[in-house]
Amino acid sequence: MRKIRWGVLGTAKIALTKVIPAMRQCEFAEITAIASRDLEKAKAAGIAKAYGSYEALIADPEIDAVYIPLPNHLHVPWSIEAARAGKHVLCEKPIALCAAEARELLGFLVKIGEAFMARTHPQWVRVAELIRAGRIGDLRVVDGFFSYDNRDPKNVRNVAEWGGGGLMDIGCYPITLSRMLFGEEPVRAKSAIEWDPVFKIDRLTSAILEFPSGRCVFTCSTQLAPYQKMRMFGTRGVIEVEIPFNAPPDRPTRIFVDGVVEELPVCDQYTIQGDLFSRAILEDGPVPVPVEDAVKNMEAIEMVFRA
Ligand SMILES: NC(=O)c1ccc[n+]([C@@H]2O[C@H](COP(=O)([O-])OP(=O)(O)OC[C@H]3O[C@@H](n4cnc5c(N)ncnc54)[C@H](OP(=O)(O)O)[C@@H]3O)[C@@H](O)[C@H]2O)c1
Repeated sequence: MRKIRWGVLGTAKIALTKVIPAMRQCEFAEITAIASRDLEKAKAAGIAKAYGSYEALIADPEIDAVYIPLPNHLHVPWSIEAARAGKHVLCEKPIALCAAEARELLGFLVKIGEAFMARTHPQWVRVAELIRAGRIGDLRVVDGFFSYDNRDPKNVRNVAEWGGGGLMDIGCYPITLSRMLFGEEPVRAKSAIEWDPVFKIDRLTSAILEFPSGRCVFTCSTQLAPYQKMRMFGTRGVIEVEIPFNAPPDRPTRIFVDGVVEELPVCDQYTIQGDLFSRAILEDGPVPVPVEDAVKNMEAIEMVFRA
């Protein structure tokens, strides 16, 4: 089968260290080009074609789709540029700075999706399947924690006007996963947010999102010891995901169902994401996390900020 030819905008750390190596293993995708504001940086990435501007890559007729791992404030502007040029777009999370900006991406004929790779990792596919099958009774509480310690003033996560902060960077994961598991949208939120006095970003956020059938309770922080965990509490059982977001590509992942371990075979969630998105293009099917879903996630993020 034909492979989708991908171009990458920017030499982001996530692209160079995780997504590009993983997509090189794809069955339905190939990384054809990369663009940087600095041509030398693009060349150093070691990809067949290197461009010194994002515009030049987008203008390349031999590119079918672009992957956008730019700072958050550039997600929508460059997604629109690419979509207008007829390229399909896989954009990093969070897809926009706010829900209104995300809505600007609705209505394009090309495929546009948000790069929530965790949602299609087999461990989450399995959790969703167990919950749907009633293994833990009715799902009532999704409980999540995600933290790291990053006080580098130059890091995109610490630049408020670029959409930095914990909720946008990592709080978005328990939100998207709880929306996926409940199969509902939150109706109300309560939150406690501590702002960094210098960076003006949220550095410690705890929230309760109320869904019609239950709630998601989570804490995220950009200034704590690194940790991640998700637990799903039902009326008859509990599921725990050991490494819910940054699932390692080199060893099995584990979920615990009422304390009993289930091991998922080794896989790379970025390879899976690349293949699923590329197949959706090839077969004209739905992408894993379409814009409509991304808009709803931004609405939930906003709900937490407002609360
Ligand atoms: N899904 C995941 O697992 C995951 C993990 C980490 C990050 N992310 C997301 O990926 C995105 C990038 O994160 P990152 O930490 O990899 O970023 P990063 O290393 O700081 O890279 C961002 C890239 O954007 C380009 N850029 C364009 N304008 C820029 C500007 N004004 N300032 C800085 N860079 C600019 C740069 O490329 P050039 O200089 O080459 O043009 C830079 O390399 C974020 O949206 C983040 O949320 C996702």
